[in-house]
Amino acid sequence: MNNKITTSILRQYKSESRTIVMLTAYDYPMAKLLDEAGVDMLLVGDSLGNVVLGYDSTIPVTMEDMLHHVKAVCRGAKRAMVVADMPFMSYQISIQEALKNAGRLLQEGGAQAVKLEGGIAMAATVQVIVTAGIPVVGHLGLTPQSVNQLGGFKVQARDEQAAQKLLDDARALETAGAFALVLECIPDGLARRVSESIHIPTIGIGAGVACDGQVLVIHDLLGLNSGFTPKFVKKYADLHHEMMDVIQKYIGDVKERKFPSEEHSFKIADTILEKLY
Ligand code: KIV
Repeated sequence: MNNKITTSILRQYKSESRTIVMLTAYDYPMAKLLDEAGVDMLLVGDSLGNVVLGYDSTIPVTMEDMLHHVKAVCRGAKRAMVVADMPFMSYQISIQEALKNAGRLLQEGGAQAVKLEGGIAMAATVQVIVTAGIPVVGHLGLTPQSVNQLGGFKVQARDEQAAQKLLDDARALETAGAFALVLECIPDGLARRVSESIHIPTIGIGAGVACDGQVLVIHDLLGLNSGFTPKFVKKYADLHHEMMDVIQKYIGDVKERKFPSEEHSFKIADTILEKLY
C-alpha cells in the first residue's frame, strides 16, 4: 500500500482496466488524509486560485503560489503521486522557461509530475520537458487558463470539427510523451473515443464514466463551498453547513461562558494564589 505510485503503475492500471482515482489537494492535512484513504494521484491544481486564494479564476496564480502549496502537499503524500499544475504564463512564453518552471516544481516543490493545458500547440513544450525527465500530464477540453478565449466555463468539443481537433490534440500529446491526460467538461462519448484511441490513461472531470480515471476538486466533493456547483460535481457531503453549525455552537458556548469548562482548563493550588500580591 505504501509503494509510491509511478507513471508505469498508472500505465499498468490502464492495461488492466483498473480505474485511477485523483483528487485535488492544496495543503498538508488534506494531502495526508487523501493519501491515507488510498487516492492514487493528488493534483495541486491551479484551481487553488479559486478554491483557496479567493480569486475568480486561475489566471492570477503564480509559480510562487504553486510552490508554496506543492511543498505542503508533498509532505503529506507518501503513496500518492503528486502532480503540480503549471500556472498561467509559466510555460507559454518560451520552451526554455517552461522547462525551467517544470523543473522547479519537481526540484523545489517535490512533485513527481507537472500538468499543463493545451494540445498540438503545446506538443513541442511537452516533448522538451519529458526529455528532461519530468513526467507531464496534458489537459484538454475546458482549459480554465483560456477561459477568456473560451467565453466562459462551458462544455467543449460538441461539434464535429472541435471533437476531431480534441482527438488530434490528445494524439499529439501522447506522441510528445505525456503519460496521462485530463479531459475536462467534454461529452462522454468523445471522452470514451479518446480513451480508446490513445494508450496513456485519461482522467476525466465532467467527461463521463469511460475515462481511465476520475478527478474532482476536493472542496466540491466535500461540499465545502456554498456557491454554484457544476453539473459534473457529485457532493458527497455538505461540510459547509456542518462546519457552519459547529462554528455557531462554538460562538454560543464562548458567549455564554460554557467554553472552556473545567475539563479544558488547568488548575493551580489555592494556597499559591493566596500568596500572590
Ligand atoms: O486546477 C485543477 O484543479 C484542475 C482540475 C480541474 C483538473 O486542473
